[in-house]
Amino acid sequence: MSPILTNHAFDAVTHSPAQTLAIGERLGQLLRAGDVVCLQGDLGTGKTCLTQGIGIGLQVVGIINSPTFVFVNEYPPADKGPYLYHVDLYRVSDYWDILSLGLEDYIYGDGVTVIEWADRAREAMPRERLWITFAYTDEMKRSLIIDATGQHYIEIVAALKRAIYGA
Ligand SMILES: Nc1ncnc2c1ncn2[C@@H]1O[C@H](COP(=O)(O)OP(=O)(O)O)[C@@H](O)[C@H]1O
Ligand SMILES: [Mg+2]
Repeated sequence: MSPILTNHAFDAVTHSPAQTLAIGERLGQLLRAGDVVCLQGDLGTGKTCLTQGIGIGLQVVGIINSPTFVFVNEYPPADKGPYLYHVDLYRVSDYWDILSLGLEDYIYGDGVTVIEWADRAREAMPRERLWITFAYTDEMKRSLIIDATGQHYIEIVAALKRAIYGA
């Protein structure tokens, strides 16, 4: 019998910034050099908050904030492990803009790349990646759909689900 639910995606509801941060931390612990995480969702839905957690999980140095004047910030590892490249495409207006950014150097580089507003450059995203869609539920509640493409990311999703739900 084929399964009713797929194994490449799951939904999570977080009830506070601290919980979103903790999910990011667990995810960060599972990510490896070269991994790409695409984030989609309106302003204030928690993309940067999750990225801060990923930075904690990866044990990188520096305070993670939305890149305001540049489109990417680079965070080196405290000890060993990959860099975190935090990309924000909020200010990117069209595809030609995106081509000029040199995004591929990050995506196909050997750090972990997290991309806010990834939907603004959907065509430039790698085929295999984790895609997280954020939605506002109420003041403290956000829903996340965590979806993997590719075997490597399917394994990350399975491990993350265990790490979040403890099952
Ligand atoms: N469950 C939650 N998860 C994440 N952020 C939350 C949550 N509940 C409230 N917030 C608030 O929502 C805002 C999220 O901001 P941010 O992470 O910068 O969003 P984005 O990067 O998507 O624009 C913060 O002010 C945070 O305190
Ligand atoms: Mg942000």
